[in-house]
Amino acid sequence: MHTGSAKRPCEIRMRVRILGSAAGGGLPQWNCRCANCEAVRAGSPDVQPRTQSSVAVSADNRVWFLLNVSADVRQQLLAFAELWPPKPNRRGTTIGGCVLTDAEIDHTSGLLQLREGCHFGIFSTELVHRWLSSHFPIGTILAHFADRPWAHLTLNDELELPLPDGNPSGLRVRAFETAQDAPCFVPGENADLTGGVIGLEITDSVTGGKLVYAPGVAAISETLRDAVRGASCILMDGTFWSDDEPIQTGISDETASQMGHVPVQGPTGSLRWLTDLPVRRRILVHINNTNPMLDESGPEWRIVTECGVRVGVDGDEFEL
Ligand code: MLT
Ligand code: MN
Ligand code: ZN
Repeated sequence: MHTGSAKRPCEIRMRVRILGSAAGGGLPQWNCRCANCEAVRAGSPDVQPRTQSSVAVSADNRVWFLLNVSADVRQQLLAFAELWPPKPNRRGTTIGGCVLTDAEIDHTSGLLQLREGCHFGIFSTELVHRWLSSHFPIGTILAHFADRPWAHLTLNDELELPLPDGNPSGLRVRAFETAQDAPCFVPGENADLTGGVIGLEITDSVTGGKLVYAPGVAAISETLRDAVRGASCILMDGTFWSDDEPIQTGISDETASQMGHVPVQGPTGSLRWLTDLPVRRRILVHINNTNPMLDESGPEWRIVTECGVRVGVDGDEFEL
């Protein structure tokens, strides 16, 4: 049966679910005793546990697209009945495809958990596909288990996301550049990194509702400003609070910006920009476990919240 946008009753709006709001490692992270990780282990009501970065969207309330597929995907699907296998068949899925914003392990390794059959496509830039066929060859490995046709997103070209049967899903996607960065498993310093890290503009073909998903943003650029025009929600990189947080907490020798993540705080940080942005829902995601804004009893959480911006939590769900 044709399930495209044309036959969708117009009262159905795009649904968005934050499956996981943490950066790589999650909260708590297996080997970390930072204040937030310890607070979660101690059962504090002020710091909520979080799984790794991923979002699900649906135009028709039946078929869902995963935006990134985290290592925690099994737990994330279990927590969301819309992604349970649909009745009446013994095997099946409501997943219609997976769209990747980069090749990082936290955003892609979950594809290996979804290997036991069913048919759906994977969408990424050509460069990310190449990295995931050579340096971290999950595409190559997956092909031995299941039908996972891979299609390329070209920067700035809008694509009507197809359902697995080829019919239109009712969602259009446009990739835009948010950073020039490679995962550390990719060797070589001088390669062209265009398409290495993208944000996604997802538009509902029927209602025009628009979501912007950008979990890896190096700086607030003109490209990003253009992408959010007319959006009713942005899910924005909230990895680190301050630029030197990775160094101060001893987790890296690089600053947040050097790692490809604009900090939340500061004159060129994301919070100042988000505060004045005429977008109804502004939500920080991909939050590293060391980020102090995760503590709801602390000043950073209050600052963000008073700016009208939300510190994203797993299970956040809304319609656009
Ligand atoms: C990132 O977001 O910068 C990467 O996922 C870092 C990592 O997990 O290795
Ligand atoms: Mn990450
Ligand atoms: Zn920690």
